[in-house]
Amino acid sequence: MGILIKNGEVVTASDRSNVDVRCGGGKVVAIGRDLKAEAGDTIIDASGQFVFPGGVDAHVHMELPFMGTESSDDFETGTAAGVAGGTTTIIDFVIPARGVRLLDGLRDWQAKAKKAVADYAFHMAVTWYDEKTDDELRACVKDHGITSFKTFMAYKGAIGIDDTELFRVMAIAKELGALVTVHAEHGDAIVELQKKFIKEGKIAPKYHALSRPPEVEGEATNRAIMLARLTGEPLYIVHLTCREALNAVYEARARGQIVFAETCPQYLLLDDSVYDKPDFEAAAFVMSPPIRPKGHQEALWNALRAGLIQVVATDHCPFNQLGQKEMGRADFTKIPNGAAGIENRLGLLYTAGVVSGRIDVCEFVNLFATQPAKIFGLYPRKGSIVVGGDADLVVYDPTARRTISAKTHHHRCDRNIFEGFEVHGEATHVIANGRVQYKDGKLDVKRGAGRYVPRTSKQVVSDSSR
Ligand code: URP
Ligand code: ZN
Ligand code: ZN
Repeated sequence: MGILIKNGEVVTASDRSNVDVRCGGGKVVAIGRDLKAEAGDTIIDASGQFVFPGGVDAHVHMELPFMGTESSDDFETGTAAGVAGGTTTIIDFVIPARGVRLLDGLRDWQAKAKKAVADYAFHMAVTWYDEKTDDELRACVKDHGITSFKTFMAYKGAIGIDDTELFRVMAIAKELGALVTVHAEHGDAIVELQKKFIKEGKIAPKYHALSRPPEVEGEATNRAIMLARLTGEPLYIVHLTCREALNAVYEARARGQIVFAETCPQYLLLDDSVYDKPDFEAAAFVMSPPIRPKGHQEALWNALRAGLIQVVATDHCPFNQLGQKEMGRADFTKIPNGAAGIENRLGLLYTAGVVSGRIDVCEFVNLFATQPAKIFGLYPRKGSIVVGGDADLVVYDPTARRTISAKTHHHRCDRNIFEGFEVHGEATHVIANGRVQYKDGKLDVKRGAGRYVPRTSKQVVSDSSR
């Protein structure tokens, strides 16, 4: 019993064609004109619709213990929200607390992720370093298919590491052919600015943004790039937000260094006026790096178009206003950093990117599926529509309209930072693991149906262009 998608326009990162797609046994088994259904096939008429590969979100945090609480989507609710929005594979971050062995952290994440409804992979965060760390990282790559390591230059005193530790991660990653990813903000400068504001009685959410200005991101991005240059290691900058960081990436690429960059819809679409919202509503937008002043957004779009940014992920890390964000009412440094976004990524990027004419529909696919799959060693199993690839597909009706709201989203969160945004197009069918898991606004997911996807480091530095 397979699935036959007929009459749609199949879009990959390199091509648009009017062909049918047949899935069977969880894989794409045929692509071509006038494919015939086999007995028992479910037939989806995709006339007037696009057929995209399932989205790959390379940056999410489900049930992450963070800043005294835990992100509010677990692996079940978070992956289900992803499916509702056309994302069929996530890469979450194993983030062991300081002092916890990496492989113990991995066991925790493996247990939590058993609930996932869609496929998942892991990055391993290095939050501290001792003489056993290198061997643990070797085991991550060789025994567990974890071929990317995460480092935080911010969050000093918690999960952040210093430059020596960062350098060591880069050196061992080089030996293993793994990719280092970095949250680039100058941790020490942030702490000083935070202390200054709190001392002056400046406790409101907007001081979160003012304590993390673009300079702290630009400096750390440049420093990480220079350290990567010293070790000869490629680098992936997560959630890049501003011109200062873009300049560092531009210079690195101009001298031939392999530096990948990711941004997220919130940095492309929102500006720092969100921090003027009254009644502590600005807390919903407290994330790191923060939302930037007007002007940075267009620079990011230009960078997407120019291929300077290769990936649009979400950094999905939701916290409820009630009971979680509220922890920082009297001190912005205590507001848990993060927001929901996994369900809205495709719709927002399609609307603000393709409909507005900033990117074409193939580039759109490249940004949300193909590039993350290639960079992180999931391709061609994930990230495109190829015979033999996983049957993860999105049938997308570009004529539909939807208004984003926390009242109707599937995120387990009481706020949506894109509340009221009108989105063009929506998934009418989402196929994950060869099964229709979302149809005409209704989820049909199975707790635990998601599979762990081990990754290869082979593609990490290969050509990731279309
Ligand atoms: O504010 C954010 N981004 N929260 C999640 C953790 C991180 O820094 O990615
Ligand atoms: Zn981060
Ligand atoms: Zn993150």
